[in-house]
Amino acid sequence: MDEKTKNRLGVEENKPTDWFEKLYSEANEDGEGIPWANMAPHPVFKSWIRKNPNTHKGKTALVIGCGMGDDAIELESQGFKVTAFDVSNSAIELCKTRFPNSKVEFIQSDLLKGIPDWNRKFDFVLEIYTIQALPPKYEKTLIKHISDFVADKGKLLVITETQQDKRAFENGPPWLLNQEYIKSFESCGLKQIFHLSSTEAEMGEATHLTLFQRQA
Ligand SMILES: C[S@@+](CC[C@H](N)C(=O)[O-])C[C@H]1O[C@@H](n2cnc3c(N)ncnc32)[C@H](O)[C@@H]1O
Repeated sequence: MDEKTKNRLGVEENKPTDWFEKLYSEANEDGEGIPWANMAPHPVFKSWIRKNPNTHKGKTALVIGCGMGDDAIELESQGFKVTAFDVSNSAIELCKTRFPNSKVEFIQSDLLKGIPDWNRKFDFVLEIYTIQALPPKYEKTLIKHISDFVADKGKLLVITETQQDKRAFENGPPWLLNQEYIKSFESCGLKQIFHLSSTEAEMGEATHLTLFQRQA
């Protein structure tokens, strides 16, 4: 993001989530002005979930930083009972307006604060691009809070872009991850069970899909 946009939105290291509300409150249901809005499920996620169907009926899923809501709707169509949250209230209202007939529970909540009521509650957790949307100093907290949501034997799917350069506040957003994120999730009781990477990337050097499972 260029300096001018950063200043206009008020991207600050110590108020790392305020600018999301400003961005979504200026947007409408078409997602215009939201840089990451595909208005469709993330293509790598969609391709993976459709190759792994029919195991989800009645299972619970949680979408982290759900944005415009399309990934949550994809999970619902695959048979999951879905909760999806975002720090921006306007994003949540846009999801509800876009998908009035969906049974997905769209909720405003802040991942940085942690949500103890949801700890170990979800069979499947989906994280796409939320960690990289916050300054590097929050990475460990975010990874811990995301991991906490995964039930015993539950799974977490992470889609992220990576870079080899050191992460620094001055260089984002986005603050693309380094590959050490896999070890960080593993140190929270999860084990990597599948990994797919590609040099096709929008922002960084590679796109990664990593599936983790909580060890019983
Ligand atoms: C880069 S966007 C990605 C959105 C969506 N996952 C996607 O792939 O289209 C990051 C999202 O995370 C949300 N977000 C940022 N910080 C958050 C926090 N602390 N808790 C919950 N959501 C957060 C933002 O509002 C935004 O919708």
